[in-house]
Amino acid sequence: MSGINYSEKIPNNVDLVNDRTLQRALEHWQPKFLDWWRGMGPTDFQNLDVYLRTAVSVDSEGWAQYGAVKMPDYRWGIFLGDPVADRKIGFGDAMGQPVWQQVPGEYRSILRRLIVTQGDTEPASVEQQRLLGHTCPSLYDLRNLFQINVEEGRHLWAMVYLLHAYFGRDGREEAEELLARHSGDADKPRILTTFNEPISDWLSLFCFTYFTDRDGKYQLKSLAESGFDPLSRTCRFMLTEEAHHMFVGETGIGRVVKRTLEVMKELGTDDPARIRAHGAVDLGLLQKYLNFWCSSSLDLFGSEVSSNSAANFANGLKGRPDETTYDDHVLREKSFELGTPQGTENVPMLNALNEVMRESYLKDCEIGLRRWNRAIERAGFGALALKLPSMRFRRSIGAWAGQSVDPQGNLISNDVYSRELNSWIPSDQDRTFVKSLMQRVVEPGKIAGWVAPPERGINNLPVDYEYVKLH
Ligand SMILES: [Fe+2]
Ligand SMILES: [Fe+2]
Repeated sequence: MSGINYSEKIPNNVDLVNDRTLQRALEHWQPKFLDWWRGMGPTDFQNLDVYLRTAVSVDSEGWAQYGAVKMPDYRWGIFLGDPVADRKIGFGDAMGQPVWQQVPGEYRSILRRLIVTQGDTEPASVEQQRLLGHTCPSLYDLRNLFQINVEEGRHLWAMVYLLHAYFGRDGREEAEELLARHSGDADKPRILTTFNEPISDWLSLFCFTYFTDRDGKYQLKSLAESGFDPLSRTCRFMLTEEAHHMFVGETGIGRVVKRTLEVMKELGTDDPARIRAHGAVDLGLLQKYLNFWCSSSLDLFGSEVSSNSAANFANGLKGRPDETTYDDHVLREKSFELGTPQGTENVPMLNALNEVMRESYLKDCEIGLRRWNRAIERAGFGALALKLPSMRFRRSIGAWAGQSVDPQGNLISNDVYSRELNSWIPSDQDRTFVKSLMQRVVEPGKIAGWVAPPERGINNLPVDYEYVKLH
């Protein structure tokens, strides 16, 4: 079941060959996807050999096969995690009933919406990152960027497959729209705000892959719990790919910290101006980037109180990440203490699931910070330890939207907020400085001065391997 048929136009493990109508529909969408990739994917690197990972099966041996591929020739396909025999719905009012292999009529539009919203983020991030190749800090990093890009393209395929296979004509129309909206487009933007923010430098890329791809992980984990089995299986396999994206973020920021600490030691100072003059990112500046991308990603979980997420849970459509680790899977009797600008409110747990998810997401975000901070402490700069901003800081959605809150979570006056904001998130001057660091380095084994080299290469290859063949 898990073997992928590569002899077909669209590699897949869903027996596409025996569903001619679906196969034809997807083969009709395929050239449009490739047009989109050529027009909106990474610029200028399309004819180069890139050392990429491609799945040939979804089991542990086959999902990570490496080789030199030109990106437009990447075998984007449809890969579902193996079915679980007798799988039952694991939460909500229908808990214990068999999972659905078809879309239940009453949940059709809501499931379609969940799939489209997830699907929209995948090509959006490729669009956001399309110019970054020009300023890569090394060939190793360039290759990682392209690996992420092709996999986000495959994640789009994963969602488009569900739309085509289970949602008929509406689904096909939505699949077209996924290629018609574009990140940052004035008329047809992507659905979620964070996916319209430009990612114009590599420090932003590392933060995006750390914070925003981690939101992706949490969304996929909660959809992997779904009673709609094809969605669950699709998301389970996507999660194996997603892990690499967060690896790029965590090691990327870790390497920035490492390089900064080297410069601080060398110069014997923590003076930001001198660190910047030496071509490195001072820790205060990194903190601002963390504040920006963390707060922006927190909005992706939605309002603290949400009747939609309550209904999605009660109906078995979207669970909590790692649902089995909780005791109560129905949540009709539980409540949640929610902090709002007006004080503490007691709300039904079912309505507070976005907040529950946001809290577990932040715990996951802390893991990387602890690692980076250990390095900072070891170097003797413990006072400059990095922190996550409060969940209330700079929110655009929910109870804290538009409130003047500092990164520690205190309500402050509007005046102080607008005066201090530029000391909490990157100012124009900060962004200009970061941009000045973004000089392209493409000699094998060489690395830009603002980031330390990686500890090891890809797939046991040396760090100085020519991961992208430019000649
Ligand atoms: Fe993705
Ligand atoms: Fe991702």
